[in-house]
Amino acid sequence: MGKIAFIGAGNMARAMIFGLIESGVSAADIIGTTASEASAQALHDATGIATGTDNQHAVASAETVILAVKPQKMRDVCQALQRVSGLENKLFISVAAGITSDSMAHWLGNPTLAIIRSMPNTPAQIQLGAIGAYANANTSAEQRDTAHRVLSSMGLAVWVEAEAQIDAVTALSGSGAAYVYLFCELMQNAGEQLGLSADISAQLAAQTFKGAGAMLVDSQITAKQLRINVTSPNGTTEQALKVFANRQLDAIVLEAMSAANQRSQQLAAELGSQE
Ligand SMILES: NC(=O)c1ccc[n+]([C@@H]2O[C@H](COP(=O)([O-])OP(=O)(O)OC[C@H]3O[C@@H](n4cnc5c(N)ncnc54)[C@H](OP(=O)(O)O)[C@@H]3O)[C@@H](O)[C@H]2O)c1
Repeated sequence: MGKIAFIGAGNMARAMIFGLIESGVSAADIIGTTASEASAQALHDATGIATGTDNQHAVASAETVILAVKPQKMRDVCQALQRVSGLENKLFISVAAGITSDSMAHWLGNPTLAIIRSMPNTPAQIQLGAIGAYANANTSAEQRDTAHRVLSSMGLAVWVEAEAQIDAVTALSGSGAAYVYLFCELMQNAGEQLGLSADISAQLAAQTFKGAGAMLVDSQITAKQLRINVTSPNGTTEQALKVFANRQLDAIVLEAMSAANQRSQQLAAELGSQE
């Protein structure tokens, strides 16, 4: 996949760098830049890759460029890269929330660039991310394969065909880890109210998510079927599920995710409106 440059190297980029090295990419083929010399040195010490603070140099030396700075920094970072020659032959992959591929192409000064917009979630930091990605029309099949390999270094990577669907990905998996944490927290609290110690309740709730999640991913059985399998007629689970149904948990989840979807659309409009 040629040389890879990471522009910005916070938690998300580091997860990708570790994942790529683990998947067989040589550290010698990766370069990373940060805003400060101290961060660059720390990145080198942690990963063994070449690091620095010169974005133009890093991009010039790479075929694939991962844009991993905060969304608010994307415009300045991209505009400063306009001067690098040969941008049209490079693949750009962004992990920044809320920045459209058109905004990036505009800021990079060329509407024909190959740009991948991705939305990882925080478990990507331990290579268990759920990542949705969109490839703009300028991206070749080979570049898409390269991007798939890069994004898979953080976990499961799936492709959406319309960029607007990235807002739904944000509402589902991007923000989704927080929904899981909330539900876990609520189960913990309820366990305590039912007489368990805080410690035992926390352990059992967390392990229930880990175990149920592993069965869901590993067994290829749908969430619905797994739920049916643990629900004996007139048993304890059925009583609890009836309460969720009567309180219309499905409508609450849809309303919550619709709010996240809408906020994602708003953020893209706000961040992309900067000239
Ligand atoms: N964290 C997540 O779970 C998550 C989830 C989805 C998407 N994302 C996206 O991932 C991106 C990065 O998030 P993060 O949490 O990794 O951020 P972060 O920890 O704040 O890291 C940002 C990095 O960008 C560097 N940087 C800032 N200005 C720069 C410049 N002009 N040139 C080069 N590097 C520069 C910083 O360097 P210094 O260390 O020197 O300041 C730092 O290494 C964001 O766009 C975010 O939307 C993150």
